[in-house]
Parts: sequence; structure tokens; C-alpha cells
Amino acid sequence: MIHLSPAAIAEVHRIQSKATHPNIAVRLSVKSGGCADFYYALELDDAIATADYIQTCDGLQIVVDADSLPYVDGLKIDYTEDLMGGGFRFDNPNAVSNCGCGNSFSVNSA
Ligand code: FES
Repeated sequence: MIHLSPAAIAEVHRIQSKATHPNIAVRLSVKSGGCADFYYALELDDAIATADYIQTCDGLQIVVDADSLPYVDGLKIDYTEDLMGGGFRFDNPNAVSNCGCGNSFSVNSA
């Protein structure tokens, strides 16, 4: 299960409102790379596959592909702003280390 803070939900709704259609799903995925081993990707997507994990949260449809799901189960996503700008922040119980910006992480490879 993915947990989004009220601020993260509000920001996604704001971005969705500018999309081609307002109920487009939010795809969360994990990709190889970043300053640690993996990094998070968030994008709007209306191409949902049958193998995708789908979760509804405050009217948002969150979609995760099967390969990414073990890396993000229990992930908490927040959105904060400071003088340098705003961004989504990730708190991942599966991560054993995180990069400085928090967008990249490592897991135990046992
Ligand atoms: S990905 Fe380089 S500091 Fe976070």
C-alpha cells in the first residue's frame, strides 16, 4: 500500500487538473539509477495494464507495475515547498539508504 499525505494528494490533483482529462491515473515506478541504486518516477498515465497494482486514495488512482511494487510497498509520499521550490518527498520502509535529495535509494540485495 502507498500512503500519500494530504499535501501530496493536493499537489497531484493540481497537476491532474492541467492534464488532458482530470481523472488520469498516477503511475509510480522504480527505475535503475540515481545516486543510489534506484530512483522513483511519478507520472500521469492512462495506460493501465492488467498486471498493475491499483489503489484508490482520495479520488486518485495510484498505479504501480508488478516489478516496482516490492520496492514501494509501504512507501509514504509527501509534498513540501521551500524557497528553492517544491517537490515530492519519499519515505520508504524498504530502503536501507537514500541519496541526499531523497529521490534515489538502495535496498538490501540479499
Ligand atoms: S539522485 Fe542524486 S542526490 Fe538524489
